[in-house]
Amino acid sequence: MTNPSPTASNPFEANSGDDRVNTPVPSNNSLASLTALVANDLDAVNNLILERLSTDTPLIADVARHLLLAGGKRLRPMLTLLSARLCGYSGPHHIPLAATVEFIHAATLLHDDVVDGSELRRGKKAAHALWGNSASVLVGDYLFTQSFQLMLVAESLEVLRVLSNAAAVIAKGEVMQLDASHHLEISRDDYLRVIHAKTASLFAAAAEVGGIVAKAASKEVLALMRYGEALGMAFQLIDDVLDYTGGGQAFGKELGHDFAEGKMTLPLILAIQADPSHKEFWQRTIENQQQAEGDFAQAVQRITAVDGFTATRLLAERYINQAREALADLPANHYRDALADLCDFCLQRDF
Ligand code: IPE
Ligand code: IPE
Ligand code: MG
Ligand code: MG
Ligand code: MG
Repeated sequence: MTNPSPTASNPFEANSGDDRVNTPVPSNNSLASLTALVANDLDAVNNLILERLSTDTPLIADVARHLLLAGGKRLRPMLTLLSARLCGYSGPHHIPLAATVEFIHAATLLHDDVVDGSELRRGKKAAHALWGNSASVLVGDYLFTQSFQLMLVAESLEVLRVLSNAAAVIAKGEVMQLDASHHLEISRDDYLRVIHAKTASLFAAAAEVGGIVAKAASKEVLALMRYGEALGMAFQLIDDVLDYTGGGQAFGKELGHDFAEGKMTLPLILAIQADPSHKEFWQRTIENQQQAEGDFAQAVQRITAVDGFTATRLLAERYINQAREALADLPANHYRDALADLCDFCLQRDF
């Protein structure tokens, strides 16, 4: 990923000397134009995040900074900022709310990498690989508490309801997914329920609170929520394709990890359902977790043979169309255009 401001010291290197973030996000060029529109806001969000990570407990600061300064696309806070601006907001509260959303996301990532046993996150070693599972889980909890403190800033019960609900639903989604792992009979609908909970709920909340803080009409707040929800569904569908097909170096995560851990994602579900003649292969590799060299390549080949990646991408496209339709109920301006561009980004992304 390129640093959009080559003159600034790279703030996304863990332990970099300068803590102030002068650039919005370590953005890939395809995100840069979207980022530019809310660049100052994103600077403010990143600086607030850093401020909140200053603690007298070095382990918290080390673990949290490792993750949060490693970059990340900052898509969810961007949704809050763009949504608030789209609805004409000019006050200060969208900044802490966007930071809240990134804190919730970061907390779930710390927990998720422990649960998934993932070694790489944002192109770096996952926190648990450096500090251990206990530190990763406990600092994840700390980030959740930070998010709750920050969401109070807007002094809105509605904001509190939406964000605290999203945090609860994500946790539920991760448990649902754990429960579904290795179960070959998991259906497409089961899977869609999981990704709705673990991913789409936060995208939806991120966009919705932007509208709420701007005191937008309820029809517009609903449209933002629907937009975020559909975008989040597409985002996770593409994530699940990329886990098999790879996104190049910039992906920053391990290829094939979902297969290795027996996660029931849509490409796999489609392959299992489409060709029962390979049932033994899936039983051995997914149900019994007995995997050998070459199995991942075979899995990719079997999914490809039944067009499982194409079908998953097509479903993502359908969600993206829903997201676009939701935008029609919102005022037409540059911020709405940026939300529409995010639709393209989520479909075409390779990281
Ligand atoms: C990762 O989200 C978790 C998923 C829902 C797939 P992102 O891909 O947005 O992660 P960062 O924030 O850019 O690292
Ligand atoms: C993560 O889903 C969703 C969360 C809510 C954290 P994944 O497990 O697919 O995310 P990655 O691939 O590790 O980023
Ligand atoms: Mg994971
Ligand atoms: Mg996971
Ligand atoms: Mg994934």
